[in-house]
Amino acid sequence: MNRHILSIVFAACAGSVMAETPVYLDPKAPIEARVEDALSRMTLEEKVALCHAQSKFSSSGVPRLGIPEIWMSDGPHGVRAEINWNDWGHARWTNDSVTAFPALTALAATWNPEMSAIYGKNVGEEARYREKDVLLGPGVNIYRTPLNGRNFEYMGEDPYLASVMVVPYVQELQKNGVAASVKHFALNNQEQWRGNINVDVSDRALYEIYLPAFKAAVQQGGAWTIMGAYNKIWNQHCCHNKRLLEDILRGEWGFDGVVVTDWGGAHDTREAALNGLDIEMGSFTNGLTSESEFTYNDYFLAKPFLELIRKGEVPASLADDKARRILRLIFRTAMNTDKPFGSLHSPEHYAAAKAIGDESIVLLKNNGILPLDPSAGKRVLVVGDNATRRLSDGGGSSELKVKDYVSPLDAMREVFGADCVDFARGYAAGRPMYAHEEVIPESVQDSLRAEALAKAAQADVVVYFGGLNKNAYQDCESTDRRDYDLPFGQNELIEALVKANPNIIIANITGNAYAMPWADHVPAILHASYLGTMGGASLADAVSGRVNPSGKLPYSIPVRLQDNGAHAFGVECYPGVESESGDVLFGACAPQQRYEEDILVGYRWHDTKKIPARYAFGHGLSYTTFAYGKPVLSAKEMNADSGSLTVTVPVTNTGKRAGAEVVQLYVGDDKASVLRPVKELKGFEKIALAPGETRDVTFTVTPDMLAFFDADAHAWRSEPGRFTLYIGGSSDNVPAKIAINLK
Ligand code: GLC
Repeated sequence: MNRHILSIVFAACAGSVMAETPVYLDPKAPIEARVEDALSRMTLEEKVALCHAQSKFSSSGVPRLGIPEIWMSDGPHGVRAEINWNDWGHARWTNDSVTAFPALTALAATWNPEMSAIYGKNVGEEARYREKDVLLGPGVNIYRTPLNGRNFEYMGEDPYLASVMVVPYVQELQKNGVAASVKHFALNNQEQWRGNINVDVSDRALYEIYLPAFKAAVQQGGAWTIMGAYNKIWNQHCCHNKRLLEDILRGEWGFDGVVVTDWGGAHDTREAALNGLDIEMGSFTNGLTSESEFTYNDYFLAKPFLELIRKGEVPASLADDKARRILRLIFRTAMNTDKPFGSLHSPEHYAAAKAIGDESIVLLKNNGILPLDPSAGKRVLVVGDNATRRLSDGGGSSELKVKDYVSPLDAMREVFGADCVDFARGYAAGRPMYAHEEVIPESVQDSLRAEALAKAAQADVVVYFGGLNKNAYQDCESTDRRDYDLPFGQNELIEALVKANPNIIIANITGNAYAMPWADHVPAILHASYLGTMGGASLADAVSGRVNPSGKLPYSIPVRLQDNGAHAFGVECYPGVESESGDVLFGACAPQQRYEEDILVGYRWHDTKKIPARYAFGHGLSYTTFAYGKPVLSAKEMNADSGSLTVTVPVTNTGKRAGAEVVQLYVGDDKASVLRPVKELKGFEKIALAPGETRDVTFTVTPDMLAFFDADAHAWRSEPGRFTLYIGGSSDNVPAKIAINLK
């Protein structure tokens, strides 16, 4: 050991004998004191090292000071299998199989914040057990078009629903000492050209539709990190976008956490240094460690950042600002000594996944054929590739390596008796693959269809588990769907099955809306998203009636794609257009896009343009029925600045079995100086009612619920005048209406 090292060792020994525990290592010291103490001990190089990846899913700590690295993992629905240090391959560990929880679109479909709290707690325990400091989720991008490949990872088309449902997930996840990374901030509402598309949207639509869920996650959820989106707004990449990160996120919302890029989302050192980016992950480097240097040092926020500071082109204080926020994250997570130890694929986690799945299934239509009585001994034919396909595979970064997986077919046999349930695949859907798809020969499809039709004619009832899956160009990251139809000839298959046996129940699994040309020819339709480990059990329990469906659609299901606002304009509205010149990324030359539908997203479009959806936002039936009584107001008017009033509606279970109803409150400005949607969701409550039971549901209405965002004034404003309160069980079924006046 050379003299230099020896002198360091002796100094350290001497020092350690005398000094008491440094503040940054004292678990009882306030975090901010620990942050400042640690910062004061760090070199500039160490501060810059914190600001970028050291591997595919980790960023540096400060080894010299015993400050640990930050370990991140996908994804929103569970903890992704371990990835290699330097490439996107699976590390093939044998201890990283997990619980797959339902997709966040399913969570949103429960309309139950308690389910969100259960979700955050349980997925947080798995991330903690897997020793992750940051879980890369939840995603709250708004469902703008049914073609977006990643809608299944998000919480639907309405900002209020997403705002309410994201908060408990973040709060409970972080109680495990694991940070949320709310994504993708912002306007990443499609996968087509996601890397560099420049999205142009009005400030009004930005503040009324696309920002609220992120704001709620930050201000009410207390999110510790935010993930910048790949795309651009105002011609600047979101990951280092001054207005988005400095003015809005930190300036207006008071965010004190860390901004991380999406993987490869950084493109410019100066912007990254100046505009509030903290940690750069996953840039385009092969990440392989060359002989001399650590290739991660080529990241924008690595050596190039250090050089800008050394040359005096940006102030060194920027490194302090970033390091301060990253140290705060480390003290909240990796160095948090109060955090629990977590658990993995436990019976409790499976029960949680099932409970969420049970409450997420939406009964779209039922002529009485459902529920199917398991004791009737009916011969059931299960058809569909999704009856057996492991849907936790694929889809991109939200993929999961499950320890267990209950398929719909397994569960149907469990509930109805193995000897009563036969299976025919009906169609082949190819292997779950990312960014390209397997073509299935027609001959294969023909023989599978013939087998299914022959068996259907012999069965008492057919239960069809089809839909989309996690393949490219379906519900999958990095590609959008090519059209609004179910793939693999399913529409023709369903029509043929109906002819072969009219007693058919459609129980499709999809992360998106899709065309249902056969909807009027089938007696019943269940609508489920990807439900993970226990998904099949939830579906079989909904078919058998062990579970009474209580889900409500978190997005509209248009009859045709053109009935959706994003598809009612030209290609610049969706998917955008390429420019003549500009930066080329992901194979596209500076794509531009304009959200022409503006604030009229989803049901806002359907209501205002009077285009009925096939099934509306908020729609969902039950095996019982509910009736709404007359609404009663505490007052007929309130002051615009300080008032509030309540509206109470009696809701009755008028059927023969217990059930849960989501009572929804929409508000409409009957006369506004600006274009406003007919009505907007401003409250909801899920209530369980026994047969014959009546419960009063009361909502408090305050002026902010009546406001719109005035972009010129850059402020929320509610105009005096008459408003209508609409209350009911769906956006297109609001029987309880009453007017109020804002003074
Ligand atoms: C992906 C996704 C993001 C994910 C990250 C790491 O590109 O956009 O959601 O968390 O990279 O896999």
